[in-house]
Amino acid sequence: MTEPVDYLEEQLQTKGLSTPETAMVLGSGLGGMTDEMEIDLSVSYEDVPGLSASTVEGHAGRFVLGTVGDVTVLGMDGRVHYYESGDMAPIVAPIRTLGELGCQRLLITNAAGGVNADFDPGDVMLIEDHLNMMGTNPLLGRAGLGDGPMFPDMTNAYSPDLLAEARDLAGDSDLTIHDGGVYAGMMGPSYETPAEIEMLDTLGADAVGMSTVPETIVANQLGMDVVGMSTITNYAAGVVGDPLSHEEVVETIETIEDDLRAYVSTLLQRFPELE
Ligand code: HPA
Repeated sequence: MTEPVDYLEEQLQTKGLSTPETAMVLGSGLGGMTDEMEIDLSVSYEDVPGLSASTVEGHAGRFVLGTVGDVTVLGMDGRVHYYESGDMAPIVAPIRTLGELGCQRLLITNAAGGVNADFDPGDVMLIEDHLNMMGTNPLLGRAGLGDGPMFPDMTNAYSPDLLAEARDLAGDSDLTIHDGGVYAGMMGPSYETPAEIEMLDTLGADAVGMSTVPETIVANQLGMDVVGMSTITNYAAGVVGDPLSHEEVVETIETIEDDLRAYVSTLLQRFPELE
């Protein structure tokens, strides 16, 4: 066990709480999830010994344990991107902490550009698979990766069972939810050129973003089941020809936030009980 795990276990025990089965990375579109949660425990990353050193300085973030409907979840409120530091350690450390604490599932959301011409801003894509285009890997050098395998299998990087649940519920949502697609994870932070988007399209990508891939790799190394979804916030570069802006990304997220929260809340209730 690592220092952050010991510390969080103690925090949970003090309050008579136990580790829930499901963890969530509260990425774009789900930041407001904590408003809907009945929160039992909130721990700033900077207060967690052994974690603070690896998180980006001054990066606000916390673990929150609480309930959504009938389900208890442990959320990472505040996510770190590779482009912020050029270092994978701040991304690896909190995911590894969740896995070693005993969370068995990880739900991840992100904002992404639509590469697939059938996708419009405001749509959601369930992630079926990914392309790691970041030019590195969070497991490189085994820095802080514990006892997991050096060469984790990535055949079912996104759990087919959880994806099936997510697909099942998609029709009940007010969102337009595409029932599977490939997410290309780029290093960023510049957006892509139209030629790069054409390349990604040729390679089989449906959506493009700057997160999720490292978290998913680490979670797989720890044996966690991952379910992921992308909010399509814009047409990827060159798809319609308009320039991209962060403002557009933020505005699109705001339009779907309530529906995405509702969808994720229902999905969490549907996850089968684990033994
Ligand atoms: N490219 C990369 N990352 C993104 C995009 C995009 O078009 N939109 C939101 N995040």
